[in-house]
Amino acid sequence: MKILVLGSGAGGGFPQWNCNCRLCAGQRQGALTAHARTQSSIAVSADGESWVLLNASPDIGTQIRNHPQLHPRRHGESQRNTPIKAVVLMDAQIDHVTGLLGLREGPCIDLYATPCVFEDLTTGLPLLNVLQHYCGTRWHMVPVAGDQSSAEFEIAGFPTLRFTAIAIPGKAPPYSPHRREQVAGDNIALVIEDTTDGRRLFYSPGLAEVGDQELRWMRDADCLLVDGTFWAEDEMQAAGLSDKSAAEMGHLPQIASASRAGMVDVMKATQAQRKVLIHINNSNPILDEGSAQRRLLAAHGIEVAYDGMEITP
Ligand code: MLT
Ligand code: MN
Ligand code: ZN
Repeated sequence: MKILVLGSGAGGGFPQWNCNCRLCAGQRQGALTAHARTQSSIAVSADGESWVLLNASPDIGTQIRNHPQLHPRRHGESQRNTPIKAVVLMDAQIDHVTGLLGLREGPCIDLYATPCVFEDLTTGLPLLNVLQHYCGTRWHMVPVAGDQSSAEFEIAGFPTLRFTAIAIPGKAPPYSPHRREQVAGDNIALVIEDTTDGRRLFYSPGLAEVGDQELRWMRDADCLLVDGTFWAEDEMQAAGLSDKSAAEMGHLPQIASASRAGMVDVMKATQAQRKVLIHINNSNPILDEGSAQRRLLAAHGIEVAYDGMEITP
């Protein structure tokens, strides 16, 4: 299995267009060693020819332009073609879904998502209704809802990859009918197993909490690619950027707070060969490659995803 990190930033990317915080300004001025990042999305392939997108970021045009693996092929019968064969959505957040609009010039989109996400994308943020006037979407329901907290599924054209969607703690978007009370399927993690070698990826760019269930799946993975949004619980408040805590935004920060263990502790409790953080918010000090926070991650064998990173679990 091949994984291509198309975008490693959280909503807004890095630097964020309207932000003059120490990190965003430092990146613009070249005062920090810090790479710009587009909004989070990855592509997965078994053969390097056909690709599945996990989330469709608003930066999708730039992301495809920057990655030749996703360019149209010369040998197609048509001059217009794409190696992107399907899209799987982890939730209905703006930074994960609005890139679907950027695919409208192509063929009908094979879309894999939970019932809640299809609901959000036809009500609060009716992108799928809009797309009916362009390429259209073919719906593949991933049955994580109600009591069903996980579901295995296949994607046509990827016979050697086995996908499992897992309901995880998180937040539905502000325009969702479930914003105040999360239901199963608002947020999923994905386990992808390559059945030719048994290697497993655990992907969860938005993870609010790691309980026993999540930890069990994470311990079974060879590669973790997980929520790296915030370093600390009150990081946005401390920098004067927002009055919301990490918990209120549905993200588990990297370091422990008085109330809970952090993602670093969680990752230390797993044996995965690759431990990688993705969906890094522009307020997170780990964006600065010279930071003490970055050294702490390195000491624990934890990597920070960057746009263009290629991973083979
Ligand atoms: C989040 O995951 O909390 C988002 O990145 C917020 C956003 O997209 O505005
Ligand atoms: Mn996000
Ligand atoms: Zn900033």
